[in-house]
This record gives sequence, C-alpha cells and structure tokens, in this order.
Amino acid sequence: MFFLDAMAVPYRLLFVCLGNICRSPSAENIMNHLIEQAGLGDKIQCDSAGTSGYHIGEKPDRRMTQAANAQGIEMRGRSRQLEPSDLEEFDLVLAMDRSNYDGILALDRSGQYADKIKMMCDFCSEHSDTEVPDPYYGGADGFKYVIDLLMDASQGLLDKVVAEEL
Ligand code: 4NP
Repeated sequence: MFFLDAMAVPYRLLFVCLGNICRSPSAENIMNHLIEQAGLGDKIQCDSAGTSGYHIGEKPDRRMTQAANAQGIEMRGRSRQLEPSDLEEFDLVLAMDRSNYDGILALDRSGQYADKIKMMCDFCSEHSDTEVPDPYYGGADGFKYVIDLLMDASQGLLDKVVAEEL
C-alpha cells in the first residue's frame, strides 16, 4: 500500500487485445470489480484498447458479456484503438497474447516504454497458460474460459500492484 500512496495517483492500467470487444474489456471490467472490492477505486484506474480499429465504438461482444455477467461482472465501455500516447500515459500496459504484445511494441519506436508492457498471463497463479486465447471464432466454452483465466490473472496483478512487485 505504501507503493500506491507514493506513486503518482491514480496508478493507470491499460489492457490490450486485438478488437477490444472480448478479452481486454473483460480484463478491464474484472479488474475494476476487484479494485472496488478492495476499496482501491481512488488509487488504481483501468482502461482497455485494441491494436486494430475493426470494432471502434462498439460495445463488448454479446457472448463475452454473457460469460462475464454469469460471474457477476458488468461489462462497460466501447472499443477504441490503441494510440502511441497510451504508452506514455499509462503506468502498465497488459497484452492478452503475443501478437498483441508485438503490436504494442511496434508503437514504441524508441523502445523507451518496453518495461511497462507485460503479458497478462504472467500474473496467473492457478493457470499455466502463457496467453489469453482469442475466443472470437469459437463457442461459449471459450468465452467462459477467458473469464476464468482473467479472474486469476487480475487477482495476481492487483496483488503485485499493491505489493509493489512490478
Ligand atoms: P478480442 O477478440 O481481440 O479479444 O476483442 C476479437 C475480436 C474481433 C476479432 C478478433 C478477435 N475480429 O477478427 O474481428
């Protein structure tokens, strides 16, 4: 907690996937849920974005929203595309998969922000996955799995932010 007190407040987290309608809005809303439960709403802020502009302005995918709602998570927000200025403005940028990671890095031409770009699954404690799988072309099970995986990763991420272990 000393870390968050000493840091520029709020500490800002950005979750990134391809379309910003499935995985990254889920991560954002799950993280907000955990932050609220922990009473840290004035200390940590979340947003999400997509490396592509395919779905700009759209609400989260209906199948993703159903899977999130089933676990008590409300889905808010609209899709937007990742911008170079995001790398400066956010304290930590979380990629859902390796391709997203590469897309984020491609916006960091000078390489000065590489240390704040991380893989979301690195924060899992109960899953061994290294990437959050893209559920878009699959069935309902894939969406449920994304929520389970992101619940695990988000709790681990929150613990690390609070413990100053980033
Ligand atoms: P997301 O899922 O990156 O988790 O939002 C996808 C959304 C849309 C597409 C692919 C993945 N698409 O090809 O349109």
